[in-house]
Amino acid sequence: MSTIIIGGAGFIGSKLTRCFLEQGQHVLVIDNLCRGRREFLDALPCRQQLTFIQADASDAQAVLKICAEYHTRFPVAAVWHMAANSDIPAGIADASVDLRDTFMTTYAVLEAMKKLGLKKLAFASSSAVYGDHGPDVPLREDSGPFLPISNYGAMKLASEALISAAAESWLDQAWIFRFPNVVGVPATHGVILDFVRKLKAAPGRLDVLGNGTQQKAYLHADELVEAMLFIADNAKERINLYNIGPDDAGCRVADIAAAVVERVSPGAKILFGREGRGWVGDVPKFRYCVDKAAKLGWKPRFSSLEAVRRAIDEIAHQEGPL
Ligand SMILES: NC(=O)c1ccc[n+]([C@@H]2O[C@H](COP(=O)([O-])OP(=O)(O)OC[C@H]3O[C@@H](n4cnc5c(N)ncnc54)[C@H](O)[C@@H]3O)[C@@H](O)[C@H]2O)c1
Repeated sequence: MSTIIIGGAGFIGSKLTRCFLEQGQHVLVIDNLCRGRREFLDALPCRQQLTFIQADASDAQAVLKICAEYHTRFPVAAVWHMAANSDIPAGIADASVDLRDTFMTTYAVLEAMKKLGLKKLAFASSSAVYGDHGPDVPLREDSGPFLPISNYGAMKLASEALISAAAESWLDQAWIFRFPNVVGVPATHGVILDFVRKLKAAPGRLDVLGNGTQQKAYLHADELVEAMLFIADNAKERINLYNIGPDDAGCRVADIAAAVVERVSPGAKILFGREGRGWVGDVPKFRYCVDKAAKLGWKPRFSSLEAVRRAIDEIAHQEGPL
């Protein structure tokens, strides 16, 4: 049996690809490399089990053709859809980016799966679907109203809705994972990479977007991948919707800035902005409830701050010396 990973050349997708390859599976990765990198795949073990096709996953005809050819050679057990626009401000500036990369990819993947009779889908969703409920409401999977404040969150929510509709008529099983902020390597984006790169460019100062009070849940990518695989193995409903995250109140951006400075450029001055959020569409404070995953048997090992500290070391190493 084999697995198709859409967006498998990205940060999280390439880690997932590694896991399936190490399990001895054949894997097809479809990625247009708009944000992922070929090198992430080149670095993986068991390369002979991996097929990589560079293509736009929002093109339904292309996805169908590629998947159909692959499925005849290596019968596909499940599709994992990890592709999206991971740059939220880019999607605020131009809504067509999220329409294409976050929503149309889901539409195209579902259309191809339906035509090929592939009936199991795992999907990377996001805490962004909840919108801004403030820091005091632990967000459960059913915490409405769902009013996203970014086009990214809106297109993730619309994707979830499309998957739900497919599960009503032809999809046998879907796993929808709502991730918090995910950190680790190979980093392609995110607050830690941003801070490390800023300090490399100007080692004496770190400009922070927002006033540093933003407080969010952070999960290490290794834990995320373990959690997704665990939930996919153990959650047996038709639609399996799970928050995955740390069981804590999160970590402040000011603390992340201090930890990055300490590790990468000790003594650098940290300059904060004035706003309570980093950019338009940024949910400044949220708290996750992960009781449903815990009930199934998955528990995070690291707190938000521990995940962040581990990722800072890894990303500093990835980016090399100042
Ligand atoms: N990293 C996080 O903190 C986080 C948080 C919540 C949800 N997610 C979700 O997890 C998934 C993986 O995120 P990531 O952090 O690895 O981001 P990433 O940008 O590193 O990976 C996304 C991959 O999708 C590919 N892609 C995008 N549009 C495409 C298209 N039209 N056709 C083909 N490939 C396309 C990119 O090239 C990239 O390789 C995404 O769906 C993202 O929305 C990530």
